[in-house]
Amino acid sequence: MTTNLKSENEKRKSGRPPENLRNEVRIELPSNSINEGVARAITSVFISQLDPTFEELADIKCAVSEAVTNCIVHAYRDTQGIIYITIKILDERTVRIEIRDRGCGIEDIKTAMQPLYTTDSEGERSGMGFTVMESFMDRLSVVSSPGRGTKVTMVKTLHDGRQKSSK
Ligand SMILES: Nc1ncnc2c1ncn2[C@@H]1O[C@H](COP(=O)(O)OP(=O)(O)OP(=O)(O)O)[C@@H](O)[C@H]1O
Ligand SMILES: [Mg+2]
Repeated sequence: MTTNLKSENEKRKSGRPPENLRNEVRIELPSNSINEGVARAITSVFISQLDPTFEELADIKCAVSEAVTNCIVHAYRDTQGIIYITIKILDERTVRIEIRDRGCGIEDIKTAMQPLYTTDSEGERSGMGFTVMESFMDRLSVVSSPGRGTKVTMVKTLHDGRQKSSK
């Protein structure tokens, strides 16, 4: 027991979590605009166990912020609904974030994902949300069903802390 604890602590010191670490958090938030910040904060705290760089953390928070904002301003535009967020550590360096709504859905996903495309008619949006998610994360997939909702899945692999510290 003591030996196990010791070796786990040593691994943590190396900036890398134990090999067997699998962790997941599921959150349900009402689509109030204040919850964009709440989602960012929860993501930040949860991802911190992977010892991300400042830049990685900023990128992930930004991607989450874009996806959650889309739920608030597009999916549930004139209504209130629930935003479902799952953050899962897939392996010791890879995180998957799923952000789902039961809102209006997207008719044409390919078009919606193009840079500068927006359905906002009030000039407040720039149509860059998906582009930001795509560039800040390693993988982005969007599944949507008009009238039923949208699921955005993002995956990112973080730097290798052990490699870095052994240089
Ligand atoms: N969860 C969603 N539900 C319904 N429609 C969505 C959702 N997310 C995105 N969309 C649609 O896809 C379009 C493009 O989204 P994107 O985030 O790239 O840009 P935007 O939200 O319009 O502008 P920005 O993110 O720059 O403020 C949106 O204008 C909207 O029509
Ligand atoms: Mg957007």
